[in-house]
Amino acid sequence: MKTVRITLMGFGAVGQGVAKTILSKNEYLKKQGIDLRVVGITDSKGSDINIDGIDLKAVISRKKETGTVATGNMSALDIIRNVDHEIMVDVTPTNIENGEPGLGNMLSAFGAGRHVVTSNKGPLAMRFSELKEAAEDNGLFFRYEATVAGAVPIFNLVHEALAGNTVTGIEGILNGTCNYILTRMAEERMPYELVLKEAQELGIAETDPAYDVEGIDAALKLVIIANSIFGTGATYHDVDVTGITKITPEALELASQNNSVIKLVCEAVDGKLRVAPRLVPKRHPLAVGGTLNVASIQTDLAGRITISGKGAGSIETASSILSDIIYIARHL
Ligand SMILES: NC(=O)c1ccc[n+]([C@@H]2O[C@H](COP(=O)([O-])OP(=O)(O)OC[C@H]3O[C@@H](n4cnc5c(N)ncnc54)[C@H](OP(=O)(O)O)[C@@H]3O)[C@@H](O)[C@H]2O)c1
Repeated sequence: MKTVRITLMGFGAVGQGVAKTILSKNEYLKKQGIDLRVVGITDSKGSDINIDGIDLKAVISRKKETGTVATGNMSALDIIRNVDHEIMVDVTPTNIENGEPGLGNMLSAFGAGRHVVTSNKGPLAMRFSELKEAAEDNGLFFRYEATVAGAVPIFNLVHEALAGNTVTGIEGILNGTCNYILTRMAEERMPYELVLKEAQELGIAETDPAYDVEGIDAALKLVIIANSIFGTGATYHDVDVTGITKITPEALELASQNNSVIKLVCEAVDGKLRVAPRLVPKRHPLAVGGTLNVASIQTDLAGRITISGKGAGSIETASSILSDIIYIARHL
């Protein structure tokens, strides 16, 4: 049995999803020969450490009852540097101003000899090459499946299953909130403002929806795809971005009369990165409904491969994180 110790930086929806998934998959992991222990957890108010493994049930209850995991106040960076563990899992909020605290967590982890797994887009959208180099220079794994399309394994598919192929282009729908709004507008012939309000009430859209509806979130994901798959060294400023705020029910009705739907499509083709509303034929594989995400990958050997699934959610995102943890554990 291989003991693999991880730390969890952030204990919100995704962090707690990871903890619940580790609890529910305990037997499964043991059968794989992995004894997975969480030795440090932080949130914005403090931290909890146990070098023998934190009682995850207790920490989930404590977070629910008191609003924090804290039993002490050792900082994230202190834990990363001074508590022995193999993998640092960063699930702190996405920050596109300066990437913090995730960026500092990740660079410190590589400096301290920890592998990194993350769902946090900010640092990757801003400083992908630097992070990749820091991992490579230290002989460490850097895995980030959960940063793009939640549960949908785009990077695993391209880097493992499609190894040997040259990817010539990628198109995708990578923002569930926009897809939900466009789907409801088309189905119910409702105006944008009303559907947005409905999405906010259902918790699908944020109170400040700009990050999603203006295409920023989708563009950040496209930047990560471009860097990871095409090695382009792109940043957010290289993406031509148009959001969905100007789409009218009349435009969707016209599209429908032509057997098409309007989707917020991300594309990386011929070195160009674009996020924009586009007409998609109703029977096209990209025409997925509701909050679903989809990625369609054009390759030289395998042709076109399309995968879709849930782009967000606590347990769904934890699925990708656990898969990255297991990948690293198998290679230790
Ligand atoms: N939710 C999804 O479905 C989903 C899907 C894919 C990717 N992601 C990405 O995954 C990450 C986590 O998402 P989430 O939904 O779990 O966010 P969340 O619910 O807001 O949780 C963020 C966690 O980070 C903690 N935190 C904030 N600032 C911190 C700091 N300076 N140091 C340590 N911890 C800090 C928060 O502490 P408090 O608990 O004290 O507030 C909270 O526990 C984000 O980058 C997000 O973009 C989310």
